[in-house]
Amino acid sequence: MVNAAVIGYGFAGRCFHAYLIGLADGIEVCSIATRNPERRVAAAEHYPGAIIYKTIDQVIADDRVDLVVLATPHNTHAELAIKAMDNGKHVVTDKIMCMNAAEAEAMIEASNRNNVLLSVFHNRRWDWDYATVKKIIDDGLLGTPYLFQVAIMRYGAPGGWRGVKNQSGGILFDWPAHFVDQALQLVDSPVKTVFCDIHYSRYWETDIGNYANLWIKFQNDVFYQIEIGNLARKAKPRWYIQGTLGGLVKYGIDPQEPAMINGNIDVAEQDSANYAQVSTEVGGEVEDLIVEPVKSSWRAYYQNISNVLNNGDELIVKPTQILEVMRVYDAAMLSSESNEVIQLS
Ligand SMILES: NC(=O)c1ccc[n+]([C@@H]2O[C@H](COP(=O)([O-])OP(=O)(O)OC[C@H]3O[C@@H](n4cnc5c(N)ncnc54)[C@H](OP(=O)(O)O)[C@@H]3O)[C@@H](O)[C@H]2O)c1
Repeated sequence: MVNAAVIGYGFAGRCFHAYLIGLADGIEVCSIATRNPERRVAAAEHYPGAIIYKTIDQVIADDRVDLVVLATPHNTHAELAIKAMDNGKHVVTDKIMCMNAAEAEAMIEASNRNNVLLSVFHNRRWDWDYATVKKIIDDGLLGTPYLFQVAIMRYGAPGGWRGVKNQSGGILFDWPAHFVDQALQLVDSPVKTVFCDIHYSRYWETDIGNYANLWIKFQNDVFYQIEIGNLARKAKPRWYIQGTLGGLVKYGIDPQEPAMINGNIDVAEQDSANYAQVSTEVGGEVEDLIVEPVKSSWRAYYQNISNVLNNGDELIVKPTQILEVMRVYDAAMLSSESNEVIQLS
């Protein structure tokens, strides 16, 4: 049994990590750390068998803890992860892994020198829309895809640490962390260039920007555009893909989060209006298809962590993969500051 300690009992600590660890075999929540007294009371009620701590220092002093899970703001991930690993703990950090590639390299070095696991909670590798898109591509319905456009355009002020650039990294460091990871998983080619523009007008009381546009071009000539907006009343498709044989449009986001917040991830349902729409060529004729979602599950993330630590299985979300994500981020931030296209070697 892997004993996991969750650091931070905010939204992600409570609704994602503690909940999903509780659903996996061979791993359990043995402690939770939060500096907030009300959250300590709530954590004790939700997990009566767990020890509730105030700080990560108390957690890493506890020999029973095998795995430290960081559900804390982005600027804390590298420091807390390295501290935990240098004290012999395995670490899962929520996305985004950290603030830049240099921090990611330092985290990987700490994992190697202490011979402990390091992974990043990229649960959105098990989003239904991502799994569906992947299957449609693998089934050949699009031919060779050459253009991906993905977006989350919403309206609302970013609150708390998320709205402070030196804590969150800015608007590009939240949802798009998943999109960049998905891009690097979907396109089997190294990144060639990165261009990024961030619109910083101060409509909200925040310095993170209200719109970002990131263009990744791969060496195999695939164009991948990622857009994120918090000042947008009209949604864009979550996915728009064109290939040599077909095209795809898919609206709406993965349905697991609301189901999970309501206490049962397994009852998630996708609105059929948001099923993927594909136009493709079959026997020389163009056909329009509606594709039902592939129902993958966020349960898989912690089941894999448990299987790695208990049985020596292969880790699915590898830190070296996410180092590549952070290299794209370094290039994106450099591009947005210099207004230049950045070449990746
Ligand atoms: N993968 C996903 O789908 C997903 C979804 C949502 C969020 N997230 C990620 O989850 C992480 C946390 O986001 P959230 O929405 O849960 O934020 P949140 O609700 O504001 O909670 C943040 C938690 O971090 C703790 N914290 C803040 N500063 C800290 C520090 N210096 N040291 C230790 N703990 C500290 C706070 O602890 P106290 O209680 O001690 O004040 C709080 O419990 C972020 O990385 C975010 O991107 C991921």
